Amino acid sequence: MLTEIDHVAIAVRDLEAAVDWYRATFDAEPVHRERIDSDGVEEALIKVADSYIQLLTPTRPDSPVAKFLEGRGEGMHHVGYRVDSCAEALARVKQEGHQVIDQVPRPGSRGTTVAFVHPKTAFGTLIELVEEP
Ligand code: CO
Repeated sequence: MLTEIDHVAIAVRDLEAAVDWYRATFDAEPVHRERIDSDGVEEALIKVADSYIQLLTPTRPDSPVAKFLEGRGEGMHHVGYRVDSCAEALARVKQEGHQVIDQVPRPGSRGTTVAFVHPKTAFGTLIELVEEP
């Protein structure tokens, strides 16, 4: 069901500083930038083979990423698993009795369809199911 690690998301306080760090340290350039107002985040995606590093920063204080930074500081926020069908993968997670954050798939960045699985019943890992456009 899982076809690729779509992305590893890293919560940062200063997106420009993080982008500069990846550029200076790894010659890594963002291939996509997007502000997702519904989630209160701005992202910069750095491509690594067929996956991404997603640098993520909050755009408002009530954003879940802002709360994460407050409580845990900067660091790994979630892992995106690429799937052929987000709806099917989400249904399977629910069928197995695990907690989800999104009851139904919703639009993600760069035209993807996504749903989040709660870390509580997933070994402490916030999982994002990602279906490519
Ligand atoms: Co993500």
